[in-house]
Amino acid sequence: MSTNTQLLDQATEIKRAVGFAAVDRFVQSGMNLALGTGSTAIWSVRRVGELVRSGVLANIRVVATSFQTELECRSWGLDLRDLSDPILENRIDLAIDGADEVSPEGFLVKGGGAAHVREKITEYAAKRFIVVVDQSKLVSVLGKAFAVPIEVIPLARAQVIRALEGWKATVKLREGSGKAGPTISDNGNFILDAFFPEGLVVGKSSDPCAVEMALKSLPGVVESGIFTRKVEAVLVGKSDGTVQEIYY
Ligand code: 5RP
Repeated sequence: MSTNTQLLDQATEIKRAVGFAAVDRFVQSGMNLALGTGSTAIWSVRRVGELVRSGVLANIRVVATSFQTELECRSWGLDLRDLSDPILENRIDLAIDGADEVSPEGFLVKGGGAAHVREKITEYAAKRFIVVVDQSKLVSVLGKAFAVPIEVIPLARAQVIRALEGWKATVKLREGSGKAGPTISDNGNFILDAFFPEGLVVGKSSDPCAVEMALKSLPGVVESGIFTRKVEAVLVGKSDGTVQEIYY
């Protein structure tokens, strides 16, 4: 495994730059890290792998937020741990992950890779949370351009779809790719993608914290992709090759 970048297209080069920057600017030896999922966060995994392998970083333990990330961590020989492993002493020092949308307040929509349940469990447990995106992910209103992914127990899908439609969402059961039928998450569940054409409003509330709670209260919903925990910084990869830091 190497991170030779000679043949990357521009979009991938932006993801690489921002994924690397998060590690170079925020990760220190001795940390327990949560590593995110997706085409941007994977570059942070690779950078951690590279720096551990070359001895620049030492004593790093990692928790993966998906099967995809777990495989990448293994390919680098990283010290991969389960979130409940006692060696972590209930301490995740830093989480790094991508996002599908970032609001001006630093609230997120995640789950484009259907990994948001494990991401949320792990990242809400972290002391610090850094998000890596390109400029296209910065939005003024959540839920309009990108659907809000909602992981549901398969049995509950019809009831949950009905409740979401009552909140004026347009809902699609996510189809699998490379298989017939629905996407099955790493936890064995279905993913509903809920578009909110009038913006993210559930009942009378457009407050993302209230919306997150309301979605979670539907029986059969495991988690939504609305993330309202405090983000320390969003790192934004720009087309000129620079990486901007936005603090909240
Ligand atoms: C996976 C996620 C990803 O972080 C999110 O979809 C962004 O992915 P990418 O960096 O590939 O655009 O939440 O569930």
